[in-house]
Amino acid sequence: MPENSSLENLLTETRSFPPSPEFAAQANAQAGMYDEARADRLAFWAKQANELLTWKTPFTQTLDWSDAPVARWFADGTLNAAYNAVDRHVEAGRGDRVAIHFEGEPGDTRTVTYADLQREVSRAANAIAALGVESGDRVVIYLPMLVESVVAMLACARLGAPHSVVFGGFSADALRSRIADAEAKLVITADGGYRRGAPSALKPAVDEALEPRDGEAPTTVEHVLVVKRTGQDTAWTEGRDIWWDDALESADVRHEPVWVEAEHPLYILHTSGTTGKPKGILHTTGGYLTQAAFTHKNVFDLKAETDVYWCTADIGWVTGHSYVVYGPLINGATQLIYEGTPDTPHRGRWWELVEKYKVSILYTAPTAIRTCMKWGEDIPAKFDLSSLRVLGSVGEPINPEAWMWYRRVIGGDKAPIVDTWWQTETGAIMISPLPGVTATKPGSAQVPLPGIVADVVDDEAHSVPNGGGGYLVLSEPWPSMLRGIWGDLERYKDTYWSRFPGIYFAGDGAKKDDDGDIWLLGRVDDVMNVSGHRLSTTEIESALVSHEIVAEAAVVGAADETTGQAVVAFVILRGEHADRAATEDGSTEVQTALRNHVAKEIGPIAKPRRILVVPELPKTRSGKIMRRLLRDVAENRTVGDATTLADSSVMDLISAGLAGPAASSED
Ligand code: WT7
Repeated sequence: MPENSSLENLLTETRSFPPSPEFAAQANAQAGMYDEARADRLAFWAKQANELLTWKTPFTQTLDWSDAPVARWFADGTLNAAYNAVDRHVEAGRGDRVAIHFEGEPGDTRTVTYADLQREVSRAANAIAALGVESGDRVVIYLPMLVESVVAMLACARLGAPHSVVFGGFSADALRSRIADAEAKLVITADGGYRRGAPSALKPAVDEALEPRDGEAPTTVEHVLVVKRTGQDTAWTEGRDIWWDDALESADVRHEPVWVEAEHPLYILHTSGTTGKPKGILHTTGGYLTQAAFTHKNVFDLKAETDVYWCTADIGWVTGHSYVVYGPLINGATQLIYEGTPDTPHRGRWWELVEKYKVSILYTAPTAIRTCMKWGEDIPAKFDLSSLRVLGSVGEPINPEAWMWYRRVIGGDKAPIVDTWWQTETGAIMISPLPGVTATKPGSAQVPLPGIVADVVDDEAHSVPNGGGGYLVLSEPWPSMLRGIWGDLERYKDTYWSRFPGIYFAGDGAKKDDDGDIWLLGRVDDVMNVSGHRLSTTEIESALVSHEIVAEAAVVGAADETTGQAVVAFVILRGEHADRAATEDGSTEVQTALRNHVAKEIGPIAKPRRILVVPELPKTRSGKIMRRLLRDVAENRTVGDATTLADSSVMDLISAGLAGPAASSED
């Protein structure tokens, strides 16, 4: 079990915030949904699929689980994701509704209606098809937060070409391996984007990622479409690179969507696992869209005619897929998309945006809330936040203190908070209060949604009683579940279905309180959660040991007040480098070199907060690194039981060494 010092406090939480009668009376979700879904889970999901989506061919079968653990939902139905997200709203006479209010970091704005979106997406689909992309071909999208990013994803979906979005903060190397894994035909990128008040280039990383390398197969990418955002100088490969605007200009504004089967792949999204190689999580069309739309409508209580919805996630993460692109657009929502950082040009930027666009539903991450807490409540107090009526949280456990602050300072003590637990793999929200139904508790995601069966089990897969702790599992298949890991069925079975045969192992520790509500306690595997982003200890270790001066490395996630966890690395250096690192100058040099190296290999988000040079690493007799002990060191705790170490004096050596020159650095 993960250690959690505040566990006792969590489970004695007595504060409870029932929905106001006014909110409950108008809420989309009603208490009866739980019973309805329990009575016939499959009928419940079939009803949602029919009500929330428009099908080209109706489905007759809800779930085929005969090839478990690969599910087939609504398999004989056909549909198109982009048609559902855009065209049908226009056909129903809602073309003038704003789909996207875009606000660039420098303050430029753009308003896009559903009719505009239909034209843009159709144009883009024609342009992409003209480059030879057909149904089933993969397209990598490497873009900042722009309207074009949404358009690009929908254009791919329109063609039945699965997209694989790579977060713009990932390095050329990370991009390269994701392109290779997906065997992409096309890359869509931009010259750059605005970040912290300055243009930041993106295209050079694509050029580098596509360069031939000895010993590697030549790239499968034929073309690169480049959105012009910053206008900065951009290197150009004739014949391969094409400006987005040029390609779209000549393209027809009409495009017949490619109707696909419900189980046709919609996208691949790579996420960190316990081993070095990121997993390409595969999502398909019908089931994914059903649950994305259902949860978006009911968990956020979306009223498409009146709400202004804002999810602050980047499209590079699954939250951006399900709750910026597919969920909101399927539901015909009006939403805000903001390109930049929350503190540019000032720390009130987010709240200024809420006031300006009268945002009524806000969905963000605990790390952002804690950062705002640190900046002080006088900043949000300067803005009118009274439009907010639902607040969401996602990405990591939200500590009760941040929850209370979010409710009071941002939500005016009235907006319900929905703490939503889910994963890249689950595709959509799984555990969350329903605003208008659930009396919320600060810090708990509480209950599985209607139609979802989750439990907390012990080592033998037995359900723990209330008050007990164990592992979070999902006991029944759900519509938006991953359909596998791209190109690696065995790894899919192994990672999620082998720990407890027949049920899905989420990798999270959890507790049930006396009411049976679920409290998430963090990962139980070698996955870290830094600012709501998933990072693999092994992936960062591989990056570190690929540097010539490093002999061995061990990485742990240490508790951090703002980011949840912070990356702390322990490294053994080669030969004379160790002596050099023992001096103050040498230590700084080593720190900088290794941190930059990790940024280059993976991306700036993976940079270790601290790098500790040590003479040895604590290992068991079988050679397994005992990260638990290193976490004790990183969190300044007394080192725990070290008796299973092959050499028990190692921890003394490490602790002694740490008394040396300062070995931490901050970004
Ligand atoms: C992991 C999944 C789901 C989109 C963002 C992250 C943690 C996520 C919560 C929450 C406690 C949470 C879990 C999970 N997590 N939401 N509300 N409470 N923990 O997606 O990168 O796939 O990470 O994030 O540990 O396993 P992801």
